[in-house]
Amino acid sequence: MSDDGVNHDRRRFLIGGACVTGAVGAGFAAVPFVGSWAPSAKAKAAGAPVKANIGKLEPGQMMTVEWRGKPVYVVRRTEAVLESLQKTKDRVRDPNSEQSKQPAYVDPFNRSIKPEFLVLVGLCTHLGCAPQFQPQVGPMPFNADWQGGFFCPCHGSQFDLAGRVFQGVPAPINLEVPPHRFEGDILVVGEDQEAA
Ligand code: FES
Repeated sequence: MSDDGVNHDRRRFLIGGACVTGAVGAGFAAVPFVGSWAPSAKAKAAGAPVKANIGKLEPGQMMTVEWRGKPVYVVRRTEAVLESLQKTKDRVRDPNSEQSKQPAYVDPFNRSIKPEFLVLVGLCTHLGCAPQFQPQVGPMPFNADWQGGFFCPCHGSQFDLAGRVFQGVPAPINLEVPPHRFEGDILVVGEDQEAA
């Protein structure tokens, strides 16, 4: 065996070893990357649409549905409530929801697909407290001409029964309308109407 022969064998051995090590290393490196890229079942469930049966919701009542960890308010509005939106339109900051967040298929004035059903994310657009549902009409300590709506106890923001924010309160924009659609009496929150 010449010096040359030994060197070639040794080089082949070293090159082969390096390739194996490299391949194994790449295999291990790929696992965490793929793992972090694919959403976990828990994350998928947290972002999934939720369904709620609204068939038993009486006119004037509100129910709350949880979607993505947020409360979603569903209010069944009466004709009187829908008329009250005309009375509040001059006292709210953004009557036609030009600066506010809602899907394009929602009417920007009454902020719904079906006027009867209002669907809102129940988080104040000031600092995120949960506004209280105050459907009664009449003088309130915070508003002498209250037509029904939502009152935020944290800093006094007021919203009408389309989720439109009143002028002169801390919240800057209307309550958000989430993506939603209807399947008969079933409300699906988290999916757009077009996806139906
Ligand atoms: S969080 Fe609602 S008014 Fe401040």
